[in-house]
Amino acid sequence: MPRRRILVTSALPYANAPLHLGHILEAVQTDIWVRFQRARGHECHYVCADDAHGTAIMLKAEERSISPEAHIAEIHRSHQQDLRHFLIALDHYHSTHSDENRQLCTQIYRRLKANGHIISRRITQAFDEKKGLFLADRFIKGRCPQCGAPDQYGDHCEQCGATYAPTDLQNPVSVLSGTPPINRESEHYFFDLPQLADFLRDWLTSGSLQTEVANKLREWLEAGLHPWDISRDAPYFGFAIPGAPDKFFYVWLDAPIGYMASFQNLAERNGLKFDDFWAQENQEKTELFHFIGKDIINFHGLFWPAMLHSAGLRTPSGIFAHGFVTVDGTKMSKSRGTFINAATWLQHLGPEPLRYYYAAKLGPGVEDIDLCLQDFVVRVNADLVGKLINIASRCAGFVAKLGNNRLSAALADPALWQAALAAGDSIAAHYENREYAKAMRTIMRQADAANEYIAARQPWKLAKQPDHAAEVLAICSMGLNLFRVLMIYLQPVLPDMAAKSAAFLQSDLNWTDDIEPLLDHPIAPFKPLMRRIEQAQVEAVIAASKPPPDTPAPANHTAPEPHSEIIELADFSKIDLRVARILEASSVAGADKLLRLKLDLGGKTRTVFAGIKTHYRPEDLIGRHTVLVANLKPRKMRFGTSEGMVLCAADGENLHLLEPHADASPGSRIA
Ligand code: MSP
Ligand code: ZN
Repeated sequence: MPRRRILVTSALPYANAPLHLGHILEAVQTDIWVRFQRARGHECHYVCADDAHGTAIMLKAEERSISPEAHIAEIHRSHQQDLRHFLIALDHYHSTHSDENRQLCTQIYRRLKANGHIISRRITQAFDEKKGLFLADRFIKGRCPQCGAPDQYGDHCEQCGATYAPTDLQNPVSVLSGTPPINRESEHYFFDLPQLADFLRDWLTSGSLQTEVANKLREWLEAGLHPWDISRDAPYFGFAIPGAPDKFFYVWLDAPIGYMASFQNLAERNGLKFDDFWAQENQEKTELFHFIGKDIINFHGLFWPAMLHSAGLRTPSGIFAHGFVTVDGTKMSKSRGTFINAATWLQHLGPEPLRYYYAAKLGPGVEDIDLCLQDFVVRVNADLVGKLINIASRCAGFVAKLGNNRLSAALADPALWQAALAAGDSIAAHYENREYAKAMRTIMRQADAANEYIAARQPWKLAKQPDHAAEVLAICSMGLNLFRVLMIYLQPVLPDMAAKSAAFLQSDLNWTDDIEPLLDHPIAPFKPLMRRIEQAQVEAVIAASKPPPDTPAPANHTAPEPHSEIIELADFSKIDLRVARILEASSVAGADKLLRLKLDLGGKTRTVFAGIKTHYRPEDLIGRHTVLVANLKPRKMRFGTSEGMVLCAADGENLHLLEPHADASPGSRIA
C-alpha cells in the first residue's frame, strides 16, 4: 500500500475540570489507531487541544477569583500531563484560546459571510439582571410545566422527560443568582444551515460516517434544518466577532476550528504544509479523521462539514463516534466514587492495564463501554500476565542458562511461526476498522497457541534430563520469537511494555509485511514486564474518588442559592447576637479547619470552635471584635464544647469574619 498521509484528532476537552476516564477512553481509542498507522509505516499526525472558551469556563474562573487566562493555563498543564501519563502519542496539544485559532476563526467567518451564509436576527432570551448575563437553558431552573416537579432545568424535566422552552417553566430562577430572569432582546448572528441542505444530504451518503450516525443525522436533516446561532453577547470568554461590537463567537464555532489551529502550530514548527491537509483540492490526497463521543455528533456531522464546505475547505474523510464509559454498569457517579479522574487512577494503577481493557471492549460503534471493575482485574491478569508475559518469563530463564542469552540458530516449529505471522493481516484489518476487541481476541488466541506449544513440550522437565539442552533452548527460543510477534501486534495498545520487550529482545518491533525471526541472536536478561493487579488497587481508586464525608458540597452553579424564607421580627429577635472580643486563638490538634477562640463578652468569657483556620492565622485574630450568636445551644465536639458561634460572610471560597467597630464594647447586644 502506498504511504498514506493522515491527520487525526480527538475531541477537545473543556478547560473547566480535570480529565476523567471517559476522556481517557477517547484518547486511548484514538491513540491506538494512530500508533497502528505509524507502525504500518504511514504518515500520521495526531493533534488535540483544550476547548477554552464559553460561559462555563468564564464562571469557573470567576468562582476561583482568578482570570480566565490563568485558569485555562493551569488546566492545560493538568490535561497535558494526564495525557502524557496515559501514553497518548500526541504531536501537539494546543488551546482554542490561541492566535492561530483567532485568525482562522476570523478568516472562516469572513468567508461564510461573503457567501451570504451568515444572517442576523433579533431574539429574546432569559437574562439575569443581577449577574448581567444572558442565560443558557442549563442556567435556569424551575417547576416543570407538565408534571410540576420542582428544580428542573430550562429545557427538559428529569422527572417526566418533557422538553420545553425555558419560558414555559413555572417560577423560573437563574441558578447563578437565585433571582427570576427577565426576557431581553438582542441581535444574534446565525449560520444559515438551510442554504447548505443539499450539500449536507450528499455528505451524509459520502461514507464518512458510521451507518447508525448517518441515519440519526438524516432524521434531523429531514425534520428541517434551522439557522444555527453562532454569536453570544458580552460578557463572554471567547473571540470577538469582527465588525460586531460586544458580540462573541459561540464556543462551538471556534472549537472545531481549534483542530486546524493546533495542526497549524505543529505544521509551522515541523515544516509541514497546512494546506496539504485542509485545502479542498487535497481532499483525495490526504486523510482527515475526527474521533468523538456520541454526544457531539451533530456538531461534527452537520455544522462542522457545512462550515468547512462554505469556507471552501476540505471535509473530513471520517468521523468516528464512540459510546460513553460506564462503571459497573451505570453512569459514572461522584457519590459512588466511580467518577474517576485520570490522575486519581494513576495514583494506584498504571496506564497500560486500562488501555488494554478498553481495547478489549472497543468496537467500531456507539455502544457504551462498561468498565466492570472486577472483570477488569480478572481480565488483565489473565490475558496480560497469565498468557502474554508468561510466555516470555517461562522461556527467558532457559535461554539465559542454556544459551547464555543467545537464541538458537533455527526455528523449532516453522509451521507455528507461519501461523503467527498469518494472523497479522486480520489483526491489522481489525485495528484499521476500530474493531479493537476482535484484534485483542485474535492476538490472545495466538498467545494461547504459544502457551500450548510450550506446555506440550515441557522444557522444564526436559531440562532435567542430560543431553537435552539444545532442544530446550530451541523450544524456548521459539517461544520468545512468538512472544515478539505478539508484542509487535500489541504495541499500539501497550507501548511501554513493547519498549521494554524490545530492550529485552534487543530488536526492533517493526510491523513489516514479512517479519523475520530472531535467530542466533543475543538478548538481554529478562526483567518483569508488568505486575499482577490487586483488587485492593481498584478499591483504593474508588475510595479516593469519593467525596470526603465531612466536606460541604463545593459552591457550584447548578445548585441555586436557597431561597430565604420570610420570618417575623419575633423570630429574628430570638437570636441573641453579642459583640465579642477575641482574647485567645489557637489551633486544634487533629482538626485542620478549626480554631479554638476564647471570647470576652464584657466580663464573662466563652469558648467557641470556628471553622476558619484556612483563612485566618490565630495570631492575627487576637484583639479583634466579632459577632457571637450567644444563645446557640452548646455543642459537644471531639475537642471540647463550643459555646456559641461567630459569624462570617462566605462568598464561594472566601470567608470574612464579621467585625463591628472596634469601639463597640464587648458584651453589648446587636439588634
Ligand atoms: N469541548 C467539547 C468538544 C469540542 S470538539 C471540537 C466537549 N468537551 S468534553 O470535555 O465534554 O468532552 C470531550 C470528549 O470526551 C467528547 O468527545 C465526549 O464525548 C467525551 N466524553 C466525555 N465524557 C465521556 C464518557 N463518560 N465516556 C466517553 N467519552 C466521554 O464535548
Ligand atoms: Zn416533568
